[in-house]
Amino acid sequence: MINGVPELEDLGDVNGKNVLVRVDFNVPVRDGVITDDLRIRSALPTLKWLVEQGANVTACSHLGRPKGTPNPEYSMDPVRAHLATLAPEVKLLENLRFNPGETSNDPAFVAELVAGQDMYVNDAFGASHREHASIVGPPQTLPGAMGRLLANEVEVLMGIRTQPRRPFVAIMGGAKVSDKLSVIEALLGVVDQLIIGGGMAFTFLAAQGHSVGDSLLEEDMIETCRALLDSGARIHVPHDVTALVGGKLFEPEAGGEVRQMSADLPDGAMGVDIGPGTAAAFVDVINEAGTVLWNGPMGVFEDPRFEAGTRTIANAMAEAGAFTVVGGGDSAAAAKQFGVDVDMDHVSTGGGASLELIEEGDLPGLAALRR
Ligand code: 3PG
Repeated sequence: MINGVPELEDLGDVNGKNVLVRVDFNVPVRDGVITDDLRIRSALPTLKWLVEQGANVTACSHLGRPKGTPNPEYSMDPVRAHLATLAPEVKLLENLRFNPGETSNDPAFVAELVAGQDMYVNDAFGASHREHASIVGPPQTLPGAMGRLLANEVEVLMGIRTQPRRPFVAIMGGAKVSDKLSVIEALLGVVDQLIIGGGMAFTFLAAQGHSVGDSLLEEDMIETCRALLDSGARIHVPHDVTALVGGKLFEPEAGGEVRQMSADLPDGAMGVDIGPGTAAAFVDVINEAGTVLWNGPMGVFEDPRFEAGTRTIANAMAEAGAFTVVGGGDSAAAAKQFGVDVDMDHVSTGGGASLELIEEGDLPGLAALRR
């Protein structure tokens, strides 16, 4: 048991049993080719253990957001072909979201999923914050357990939530404060220092009275950011930025100038990365940390002109003595792009799920398994 949730061993004898395993194989697929199979490889310990114990394993997952109708663009075929090379004994159902009953948690769809199954295992950490049929439905009627991947995510993320090695530093980035406000508020109760980068930093800078030029700004969040900054929490915001003046993101051929600027930007300048001085200051904080949790890039790292800030943070984490955790999604993609994903203590397979677990201390998928 972890957090009151049964593990694979708690299922008892699985030999000869039909076991439905919810996995999160929502992987990036480009032109029919999987570009990152981390989520598939991460589920293998569970799938292989069940096969070795003699279970008949049927895996199921969503892929993308096909909105309740079959759509060849979101077919599981490439994933099934890849899985066949890694775990040939495992059957994989078609995309769960081809049925509208998946996202609406329709009991009729749950009944379809559990028909003929004896047991249920959830190893889909990345989707366990969703109250979808395949996540919360099967354990209502079948004996259920968490798989190895889910158990590991819960242990690591709940571990840093409740007993972090201090100082505990959280690095938050990404475009919008509004998307991450509740997790920022929750983190401020746990972390010793909070680093803010990415697009969301400009709303904090505006709250400090800086001009942000053409940078991303959420006007209606300025007061909220001011209250956070005034709360006495140790929040670090950029003091210099890399800006694009003229030109276009992702289109270097469109011209424009890349400039290092102080945190006061004139009209026409769009801040798209933290500056070198800020990156160095953030690295100093990382070097003093006992635990570092990173969620969200420092800038538009997909455009090579603006990757420096995110790269510097990723490298600093890779070399830090701290226990390092990368939330899923964009930060995991950045760590991989810079070749340092392997140097982190934990790279989560869930973006939204890891934030919700840290914020709430629980997920619908975990609660369902406690019934
Ligand atoms: C993810 O990629 O974050 C998970 O697979 C969940 O996907 P969703 O945001 O479409 O529910």
